[in-house]
Amino acid sequence: MTAFDPWDPDFLADPYPSYAELRARGRVQYFERTDQWLVPHHADVSALLRDRRLGRTYQHRFTHEDFGRTAPAPEHEPFHTLNDHGMLDLEPPDHTRIRRLVSKAFTPRTVERLKPYVAELAGELVDGLVRRGGGDLLTDVAEPLPVAVIAEMLGIPEADRAPLRPWSADICGMYELSPSEDTAAKAVRASVEFSDYLRELIAERRKEPGDDLVSGLIEAHDEGDRLTEQEMISTAVLLLNAGHEATVNATVNGWYALFRHPAQLAALRADHSLVPTAIEELMRYDTPLQLFERWVLDDIEIDGTTVPRGAEIAMLFGSANHDPAVFESPDHLDLTRRDNPHISFSAGIHYCIGAPLARIELAASMTALLERAPTLTLAAEPDRKPNFVIRGLEGLRVTVG
Ligand code: HEM
Repeated sequence: MTAFDPWDPDFLADPYPSYAELRARGRVQYFERTDQWLVPHHADVSALLRDRRLGRTYQHRFTHEDFGRTAPAPEHEPFHTLNDHGMLDLEPPDHTRIRRLVSKAFTPRTVERLKPYVAELAGELVDGLVRRGGGDLLTDVAEPLPVAVIAEMLGIPEADRAPLRPWSADICGMYELSPSEDTAAKAVRASVEFSDYLRELIAERRKEPGDDLVSGLIEAHDEGDRLTEQEMISTAVLLLNAGHEATVNATVNGWYALFRHPAQLAALRADHSLVPTAIEELMRYDTPLQLFERWVLDDIEIDGTTVPRGAEIAMLFGSANHDPAVFESPDHLDLTRRDNPHISFSAGIHYCIGAPLARIELAASMTALLERAPTLTLAAEPDRKPNFVIRGLEGLRVTVG
């Protein structure tokens, strides 16, 4: 077993045994390499996500100097401007104002209406895979489905969609631990290009509104000045990126887990009514987003240890999802698991706004694959992406018999 080391390929191959060791060691541990306090237990992660003494940012209350931190390098500014105005990196009252506007588009009822469209698209993508006798599940199904859905919701014309994935990937590089200068340079370039693109799209929609989300954001902005132009751009980018990254990974991580558990896959193939619990279990079993950070805005105490204002806490979602205090036989994949309070969609005020949509997309691709590709088989062992926070595979080669 390897120690907690997010840069070690052996750890990345299977981080769960190391998490068990971390949990056994205690409820909070200082990790020098990232200057963070690791929190591995479910009860603590769940409570801290709801704790208002922590924040995704501190800039609504403190300066960088107050917090003993340095301002980001000026050459990284385009990334930070984009990132810091999205709701995920805002705290109340800005967070509340933007989330309220956006959440209307993501209520379970609104999203329910997208179901037939998502199912049809998933069916077409799987039919293509079947016609070709197989291919890469990632590029053929897992990726195009959520990208098309979120682009459609925002009203991004089909001809403009090709750069969305690379822009998103380059920006998301910054969410890994200690990103390199090269990663930052790529993220900055993508932030500039993506922002420029959206600024133009917003100008077009302003002239000619549609029934898409970008037009909705403009309308909200124009009605009561409730969204600045930068907030509109940042919100659109956040929705486009968050709207597909984790869903892509959840799909391929999930199918890879199924291929490694043939008895469970056979049970699922025999009974498609297991799809809803299977999706929740696969998201718990191999958690697509492994770690989320919070700044400590006011001192907190965890199990007798004071974590001071200005410190950073790293909540280990993958560990919380394998905590035996909450999940029976946590390292066992059980597609029928009913009592499954996994934390993969977070909790508290930043709880994933796209969770109902993600669930519909995951169910649509799984159902289409079960129904239309019943002989789907793993063709080659996949390569794992060298990332820790956003856990995924480089691809997933499959054949259809
Ligand atoms: C399997 C797929 C997905 C997973 C695992 C996931 C996970 C998460 C998590 C863990 C957070 C909160 C992070 C934190 O607390 O710091 C979050 C927030 C968010 N997610 Fe998702 N997500 C998924 C799909 C989606 C989709 C399809 C959308 C579509 C719009 C989306 C949009 C968002 C947004 C906008 C936020 C920020 C919410 C806020 O700050 O209030 N996500 N997601």
